Order: sequence, then structure tokens, then C-alpha cells
Amino acid sequence: MNESKLIWKKRILYTVPGDDRNRMRTVANNLILHIHPTKVAKPALRFSYTWGLGGISSVLVLFLILTGVLLMFRYDASVENAYTSIQYLETQVAFGALVRAIHHWSANLLVVTAFLHMIRVFLTGGFKKGRALNWLLGLFLLVLVLAFNFTGYLLPWDQLAYWAVTVGTSLLSYVPLVGTAVSNFLLGGPEVGQTTLRNFYAIHVAVLPAIMILAMSYHFWRVRKDGGISQPEPGERERVEKVTTIPHLVQIELAVTAVLMLVILMWSIFVPAPLEALANPAHPPNPAKAAWYFMGLQELLLHMHPLAAMLLPLTLLGGIALLPRLDPQEDNIGHYFRSHKGRFAAVFGVLLSLLLVPLAVILDEYWLDLPGLLPAWPTLITSGLIPLLATLATFALIYVYFRAAGKLNHSESLVGLFVFIMTSFIVLTFIGIFFRGANMALVWPF
Ligand code: HEM
Repeated sequence: MNESKLIWKKRILYTVPGDDRNRMRTVANNLILHIHPTKVAKPALRFSYTWGLGGISSVLVLFLILTGVLLMFRYDASVENAYTSIQYLETQVAFGALVRAIHHWSANLLVVTAFLHMIRVFLTGGFKKGRALNWLLGLFLLVLVLAFNFTGYLLPWDQLAYWAVTVGTSLLSYVPLVGTAVSNFLLGGPEVGQTTLRNFYAIHVAVLPAIMILAMSYHFWRVRKDGGISQPEPGERERVEKVTTIPHLVQIELAVTAVLMLVILMWSIFVPAPLEALANPAHPPNPAKAAWYFMGLQELLLHMHPLAAMLLPLTLLGGIALLPRLDPQEDNIGHYFRSHKGRFAAVFGVLLSLLLVPLAVILDEYWLDLPGLLPAWPTLITSGLIPLLATLATFALIYVYFRAAGKLNHSESLVGLFVFIMTSFIVLTFIGIFFRGANMALVWPF
């Protein structure tokens, strides 16, 4: 073969003749290098910086697609057959129960890892310096993950599914202006029924995956375009050391994937996905709870007028979306909690939340009864506006305390406030899951 032919062969096939192993390796490498740059900053590989959370979320999405496609071969999205098709899959299909368990647990874990990934990005200032768009895209991904979980929840058509979705969509109808319309559109009528099941199935297996794949690809591409993972600014004479993606980054990714596969597999072998009795619209369980990741919202509804209970998380979501504008200081990127003082603010935020939130829940459950004290006032004010303003005022006070008494700067104070709000949301979720019994009364879980 003459010289120029060989060069073209190398260019087009990325290989030299007669070397199959080399050819496979180059094809694989090219696939990897479509996602990653050829070199990455060495500090960006530190596991204790990202905790691999974005990567773990990505791998979980992959598991979900693979197992989801397998489930589609057996599942029947009709009210008459959905439950029995799952029972059949669980008992008659080889590895059916295992595939369903992997799908179920990966989906639940993804809610946790995507949420923790958001916290990591916030704490290291990964949304700053040109990364605002990716932050917004990430938030959109988190909403997608919740939508995936919510639509998938209904599909087994058991008591758990039917009532969690009934409670969940009733929460949705409280969203101002559009809530009822969206709820009616999703349900295909006023109640959960055959149209709901068909709608949820189509959204779950076609609409959301298409949007998810596009949004995720854009998310990865932005990480690359934004110059890789956020890092502290190098000093004036410092140069950031770079290493090749293959093998340095790829071997970490493969290790994380292998460990994750093993953990999910073992967990799914020993803990099957739940399947309760067939859905019975005439017999709601007591308590009728939403899916666990919406229990924070359901808990909020026990304390506030529905309009306030929806406005509060929507306001917070708006605030989180605006964080790149609210916290533009750039010289603290890449440092967890921004600074030593920021770390103190975060610990303080966690402790304050662990104390304040249970106290507020107990106070409201047993002692405080504003509508009873002010019977002439509309409940929209006594159980809506007043608790909403009190909560927002508490946030403002915490921020002012950090600024004035703690002598923290704006960015550090926001860290404390953000951690306080996130911990409060987690505490409310735990109270909703474990400490609510019959008629949603407070109970001890043990
Ligand atoms: C399905 C959900 C998600 C997947 C699969 C995903 C995937 C990833 C991956 C692989 C990375 C690079 C590695 C890493 O930082 O761990 C990354 C970075 C990033 N993600 Fe996500 N992500 C998701 C959700 C989110 C959420 C909820 C947010 C925030 C609201 C977010 C915002 C960002 C930002 C701003 C970066 C760049 C961080 C930096 O430069 O430090 N992502 N994501």
C-alpha cells in the first residue's frame, strides 16, 4: 500500500491494516472523545470534588433506559391488564422481577443523586462564571427526573400507585392559574382512570425520554463548552496540570459504573420492587400519601393553605434558578462552602433547621390555631398569607443574622441560607414519610 493511501485509511478508519484490536480501541476512543475533551484538568478528577454525582446520575439514566425497554415488552397499559401484566412479569418471566427491581431502585436513587449533584454544584459555586445556562438546564433535568418518577409510579396500577398519583395530582391542581388545567389534561378528566394510565404511559416511555436525552446531551456539551468542571482560579504564575482523558478520566468512570452496577444489582436481588393489591378507587388507604419525594410538599399542605403551600416552593424554585444572578462573586469558585466562614454558615444552617422545623411542625399541630383565634378572617390570610410571610421573614432574618452577627459576606450568607432551606425540605420530607400515621396525625414510627 502506498504512503498516501495508508494515511487516508488511518484518517477514515482510524486504524492500520490488519490490526483489529487497535481498530476497536480507536473506534471506542473516538466515541469517548465525542463526549469528553482529549485532556482534562487534573484537579477536576478529584473524586471528593464532584463525588461522581453527575456521572452516577448519567449511568442510572442508562440503566433506566435499558431496563425500561425490557419492561415494555411485557407491560400492558390498560386498566384491566396493567396489574396482571406486572404480576406475570414478576412470577413467570425469567429475571422479570429483577429487571423491574433494577428499574424501580435506579429511578428512586436518581432522584437522590440528581438532588445531591445540585447541592454539590451549588456548594462549589459550579453555577458561576458562564455556567448559569447549565445550572438552569440542570434544574430542568431535576424536574424531568421527578416527572419520570411520577408518571412511572402509576403504571403498576396497584393501591400504592393509584392513591399516590391521586394525591400527587390533587397537589398539582393547587398550582395557581394553570394547576387545574394541567391536572385535567394529564388525568384526561377529573379522576385517575384509563385515560390517565394511557397518558402517563405515553409521557413516560416516549415524551420524557426524548426530552431527557436531548437535555442531557446539551448538559454534557455545555460542561465541555464551559471549560470543563469548575475549578479554583489558578494563581498568576500557576499552570493547571492537564492529563489525558484516556485513561485517567475514563478509568474513574468505569470504576464508578462497576461499583454502581454491583450495588444496584445486589440491592435489587434482595429488595424486590413493591407491588400492593390491585388499585381500588373505592378504598383509599389511611393515610393516603404521595410518593416519598413529594412528601415534603404534602407535609407543607398540612400547615398552610394550598395556595401558600404551592407558592412557597415555586418562589424557592425561582430563587434557585436565579442563583447565578444572586451570587455572582467569582473569586470563590471551586472552594466548598466558598470559605471557612461559609462552612460555619452551612453547619449552622443544618443545626438550625434540625431544631426549628420539627419545633414549628409540633407547634402548629398541637398549639397554634390562627384560623381558630381569628375566626372572622378568611383562611386564605390566617393559614395562607400569614404562614407564608412568616416563613419568608424567617429566611430574611437568617440571612441578616449571617451578615450582621456572623460578619459573613453576601456569598457565604447565601450558602448558610441555601443549606438551611434544603435541610428544612429534607426534614419535612422525613416527617411526612415516617412521622405521619392514620389521618396524617403525628405518630412515632417505632
Ligand atoms: C439527570 C440529572 C443530571 C445529570 C445526568 C447530570 C450530569 C452531569 C455531569 C456528568 C456533569 C459533570 C460531572 C459532575 O459535575 O459530576 C454535570 C455538571 C454540572 N451539572 Fe449536572 N446533571 C444532572 C442534573 C443537574 C442538576 C439538577 C443541576 C443543578 C440544578 C445540574 C447542574 C450542573 C452544572 C452547573 C454542572 C457544571 C458543574 C461544574 O462545573 O462544577 N445538573 N452534570
